[in-house]
Amino acid sequence: MTPSVEELAPRSEDEVRAHLADGKLVEGLQHMSPEYLKGIRRILTVSADTELVSAPAYLRAAAHAPALNNFGSAVSIIQDELAHAHIGYRLLGDLGVDMSALIYEREPAAFKYPYAFDVPLDSWHELVMANALYDQAGFVLLSDVHRSSTFGPWKRALAKVDKEETFHLRHGRTWVKKLCADPVEKARIQAAADWMFILTLEWFGLPDERKRHGIQLEYGFKGLTNDELRQAWMAEVVPFMEEVGIEVPAHAEGDRWVIDCPFPARFDAEAKRWLLDEGAIGWDEVMERWKGRGPMNADYVERLQRGHRSRMAVAA
Ligand SMILES: [Fe+2]
Ligand SMILES: [Fe+2]
Repeated sequence: MTPSVEELAPRSEDEVRAHLADGKLVEGLQHMSPEYLKGIRRILTVSADTELVSAPAYLRAAAHAPALNNFGSAVSIIQDELAHAHIGYRLLGDLGVDMSALIYEREPAAFKYPYAFDVPLDSWHELVMANALYDQAGFVLLSDVHRSSTFGPWKRALAKVDKEETFHLRHGRTWVKKLCADPVEKARIQAAADWMFILTLEWFGLPDERKRHGIQLEYGFKGLTNDELRQAWMAEVVPFMEEVGIEVPAHAEGDRWVIDCPFPARFDAEAKRWLLDEGAIGWDEVMERWKGRGPMNADYVERLQRGHRSRMAVAA
C-alpha cells in the first residue's frame, strides 16, 4: 500500500507557512504538510505529463522535416523534452508517488497535459509553429515556477530546463521567419497559427475570475495567476508574429494584450478549425472538451506505454 499524504508529510500547514515566511525553501517531504504535498504533486504531474506527451507529438511532425539535419534538430528537442519529463517524474518518485504506475499504467484520459497536444501536428510548418507557440507557453510557465517555486529541488533543476526551452523557441522562431519569406510557405505558416494560437491561449487555463489560486500562490507553486501568465505569453508572441507578418487575433492596448476573437470558442478538432462564427462559449463547455480529451490522446499515450508493456510481458 502506498502511504497517504498525511503519513508522508509530517508538518502542519502553520509550520509550512512559518518555514516559508522565514524565506526558506522546502527541500523534501520532511518540510511538507499534506496540503503542500498534494499541491506540489499536482503541478509536477501537469508539468511532467506535458513534457512527456510533447515527445510523440513532435516526433510525428518531425517525419516531415525538409532535410535530415532538420530532422536531427527536431529529435534533439524531443530528447530534451524526455529529459524534462524525467526530472518531473523523478521528483514525484521522491515524493512517494509510484513513478512506474504513473507513467506506464495510467489511463490516457488521466494524463494532465494541455488539450493542445491532443490535436495532431501534421507538418513541419505545424511543428515549428508549436516550437514558437507551445514552447513559449512552456517557457513562460516554467520561468514563473523557476522564479517563484518554494520547492528547492525543482527550482534548481529548472535552470537547465529554461536554457533548453530557449533553444526550442529559437528553433521555432528561426524557421517561422525563414518560411515567411516565401509566399506559399507563409500561407501554410499562417494556417498553422490560425488554429494553434487560440489553443495556446487556452493553455493557461480558466480566467482569474473563475479560478481561485489561493494555495498555489500562497505556497509558491507559481508566482503569477492564469491571466497574468496568458498576458506574459502574448507579450512575447504577438510582437514576433507582427514582425514576421503573421496575423494573430490579439493586439496591445496600453500595457495590456486584448484578444480580438470570440474567446473561449468552440473548436472542431478533426478539422483543426475554430467555429468563431458561433461566438464565444462558456468555460464549462471548454472544460468538457478538455475532459473528453482530443484525437491523439490515446494514440500518444499508447506509444509511450507500449515498450514498457511488451518488456513486462517478456519478463513475466
Ligand atoms: Fe520541455
Ligand atoms: Fe520544449
